[in-house]
Parts: sequence; C-alpha cells; structure tokens
Amino acid sequence: MQEKFYLTTAIDYVNGAPHIGHAYEKILADVIIRHKRQLIDNAFMLTGTDEHGIKIQKTAASKGITPKQLCDENFSKFEQAWKQLEISYDKIIRTTDEEHKKAVKQIFKKLYDNGDIYKHTYTGLYCSGCESFLSPKDLTPDGLCPHHLKKPEEITEENYFFKLSGYKDKLIEYIKSHPDFIVPSFRVNEILNQLENIEDISVSRTKSSVSWAISVPGDDSQSIYVWIDALSNYITAIGYDCENPSELFNKLWPADVQIIGKDIIKFHSIYWTAILMSLGLELPKTILSHGWITIDESKMSKSIGNVISPDTVLKAFNLEHPDAFRYYMASSAQIGRDGNYSDDDFKEKVNADLANNIGNLLNRTLNMLVKYFDGEIKTDFITGADSKMAVLANNTKNLVIEAFNKYEIAEAANYIVSFADSVNKYVTERAPWSLAKEGKTDECAEVLYDVLEAMRHIAVLIYPYCPNIAKDILYQLNQDADFKYTSLIWGGIKAGKLTEKDKIKPVFLRLDSEFAADKKKV
Ligand code: ME8
Ligand code: MG
Repeated sequence: MQEKFYLTTAIDYVNGAPHIGHAYEKILADVIIRHKRQLIDNAFMLTGTDEHGIKIQKTAASKGITPKQLCDENFSKFEQAWKQLEISYDKIIRTTDEEHKKAVKQIFKKLYDNGDIYKHTYTGLYCSGCESFLSPKDLTPDGLCPHHLKKPEEITEENYFFKLSGYKDKLIEYIKSHPDFIVPSFRVNEILNQLENIEDISVSRTKSSVSWAISVPGDDSQSIYVWIDALSNYITAIGYDCENPSELFNKLWPADVQIIGKDIIKFHSIYWTAILMSLGLELPKTILSHGWITIDESKMSKSIGNVISPDTVLKAFNLEHPDAFRYYMASSAQIGRDGNYSDDDFKEKVNADLANNIGNLLNRTLNMLVKYFDGEIKTDFITGADSKMAVLANNTKNLVIEAFNKYEIAEAANYIVSFADSVNKYVTERAPWSLAKEGKTDECAEVLYDVLEAMRHIAVLIYPYCPNIAKDILYQLNQDADFKYTSLIWGGIKAGKLTEKDKIKPVFLRLDSEFAADKKKV
C-alpha cells in the first residue's frame, strides 16, 4: 500500500478573530505536513472551524447579528490568517457545512442504535467557554472554570447521554499498551487519572437552551452537543459515512496525528476515542497536545487586552512573508510545553538564526565565489560525500527526520541551525580569503563548494519552517526549487556559472523595527 500521512488540527471557535495561540497550532501542523510532503506523496492536512454552540449563539446575540453571520464574518478572518501564514492545508471544514451536518446526524444515530446513547435527567455545571459540563472537583477553589476563570452555570435538563463509562477499561488498556498514542508522554498519567473517575457524558442540550446546533435525529427538541459535532469533523471532512465511506476516507483513516492544545486533551483522548470505538473505527496513531502561548509571560485574554493577532506581528515588523514568525513560533517551545511570545525575543532569535547564521553565510560565500572565481563552479572543485561538510549534512538530515518522527519540531529546527553554525565555524577555520591570497586556489574553491552545497541542504531542511527563504536560497544558488528529501544527495550543485555580483541579495534582512508602544491590538 502507498504510504500516507493524515494530519488534523483542532477546529477553532469562530466567536472571535484568530490570535497567535491559534496560529501556533496551525504553524506546527503546517511544518509537520510540509516535512512529510518532502518524503511522501500522499500527505493530507485538515483544519477547520467549530461554528455551533451556546458561545457562538451568545456572541452573535450580543452583536445583534445571526449566528450564521457571525460565523461567516469570523471564518473569513481565519481563512485570511491561514493564507497570510501560508498554512498549506488540503481541506478546511466548517461544522456548518451541509455534508458535515448530515454525517453528524448519521453518526449520532449509529451510536444510538449501538445502544451507547440513552436519555437521562441531569443537573450539572456548564462552562460555555469549554462548551462542557465540569465536575465540582475540576473547579478552582473559588468555584471557577480553571481554563476560562468564569463561574459555570448550573443547568438541569433532560439530555441524551453517551455510555462513556462502558469504555473505561478498554480505553485504559489501549492507552497503556500504545506508548505513541498520547504525545508528549508526560500527559499520560493525567489522562489515566481522569479515566479512573469517568462518568457518562451528556451528548445533547435542549433546543430551548441551545438552538444554534445540529438537531438530534428524530427528536427536534434536542440539539447535538457541540463536542460530538466538533470531534466528528475529523472523519466527516474526508467523507466518512457509516454505510459507504468515501475512497478518500478509506485511504486516509486512521489519522496519523491529531494536533490539539493541552486544554482539550480529555475530549480527544477520552471522548473521541470512545466514540471511534463505538463506531468500530480504528483509533488515530497519535494525539499530539501542544502547550499554551503566553504573551510577555502572561495569559492572553481579552480582559487584559493583550491578545495579539499574527497579522499584528507581521505588520509591526514589516515582514513581506511569514517565514520569521513561522520559524519563531515553531522553534521556541518544546512540544507540549508552554511557549512565550515577546517582541524582543522574536527579534533576537530571527536575527541570530535567520539573518546572521544562515543569511550572512550564504551572502559572504556567494560574494567570495564572485570575487575569486567569477561566480563559477569548476568540475574539479566539487567535493565528495566524504568531505567533512557532506558527512555533517547527512547526519543533520537523519537527526531532523528522527526529531520529526517524534514530533520534536523545535529540536529539528535546532539541528538545522546548529548545522549552519558548524558551517560558519568551518569557514572561519579554513579562511578561504587567506587561501585565495596564498594562491591555494583549489583548496579555496573546495571550501566554497562545501559551504554552498551545505547551504543547499540547509534550504531543503529549513523549508517546512521557512518556505520563502528556502526558495530564495535555492534561487540564489541557481538551483531548481526541489524540496524533496531525494534531492539531499551531496553534489547537487553542478559545474558551471552559478552567480554574478548583482544577482546576490540577502535572503533575510535583520529586523530592526521597534514594535511600537501603541501597537495595534485585535
Ligand atoms: O477548543 N496557545 O476551540 P478554541 C496555544 N473548538 N494554543 C491555543 C491558545 C493559546 N493561547 N488558545 C487556544 C476549541 N489554543 C474547540 C476545539 S476540536 C474538535 C474543537 C488552541 O478556538 C486550543 O488549545 O478554543 C485548541 O487546540 C485550538 O487553539 C482551538 O481553540
Ligand atoms: Mg479554547
């Protein structure tokens, strides 16, 4: 069978515009999918928006518009942001799409027919931020939702319930026997603890309390709970159908990685997993949960007024493409750990890694090639796979692949930048300018070849993070824009004229603009 890779992201609530926390997740996902596409042909990325629920209903009401108007307005902001960040998804699903709504009803019916759904009257504490009932022990000492710091609402309703408790033992067994299922593994115990006390969950709300939702099939007085609707997107988007799933579904499912934030890991590793078990579908190979992005070390929140959109950052630094921001977001925190955004840190990191380490190296080397060799590579300058830089390039490639296989996205970036560091040191040690002066022409030429070929490797390796810079490096090296890993064979740069003085341009300029105090907020 042809190798495939299916990646999904969380689908964002459209009750506001996207901020850099949403952007962080989509950038991680995009870096992973671009890396996979360098290796295999059949890699598919799904993203989307979560459009039903009480939160959307309330926000729309407070603005005096219909929920659908609110969704359309905000959906286009998300779509625009992902375009600006060059998120290369294959599909973007909206939970208000007709096919999705139809498939969700079918899924609900199947769970019901399986005997996993029953009706029950219930009193509970509902947090609209989470779109979920909370148990009293989940609350902060002052009785607030720990994620939204809001007091949940007490609700008594007759709802449909899903027999989650019936899956408890199977779930525990599955998680324990599949070490790659929950990544990073430091989250496993938290999930196992939650499973110990797991209860059946409400999977509907009365239509009178939540009208902006999909109706329960055969019971118009009830709305399907937003999480059942939302979680199903991962299969409905690729054509799941209980009787007759699409070819695409058969090809892609189970997902290879489902990327989500740490706040919604319970919904994915417990609720979603049990739903899949009930539907008789295979489970995703990995649920990857990332950490939280803070701004200047504090939580982003509308009340603090420190919510930043990705567009604000791009505009403030006058960036013509999103590479620096993508690189910074994807490389600044270990996966699963919280990351922080600050203007100073951003500027410092991209100046050091992209402008100085990588950009300057290429620029200096191309200029030396012009100065000493009229921009030309001669056949006998070409070094072999045993040269020090060739060995280092190959080792780096293997480290990057291994890191990606473990979803260590920041570490993979570090390996690439460390390689560039080593190439810089090699230039300093070998001092091609001295070799030229001393008339050691061949040695000088070989050093320059080593560095340029190393730069070609760096372009391919850094492509998932910085697609524009990567293209520019290959362009400056007079190479085709081939980013497949099959191109990572030493000796790609062939003999012939490579460049000339006025073709040489920096691939990334240092950021010097100040993020002014009056920066625009979303
Ligand atoms: O939870 N830092 O939607 P959402 C990092 N619709 N990630 C963040 C973040 C931050 N500051 N803020 C949010 C939902 N996220 C549901 C998901 S999936 C079937 C349904 C992440 O808009 C968050 O962890 O509140 C989640 O993965 C995604 O953004 C959407 O959050
Ligand atoms: Mg949220």
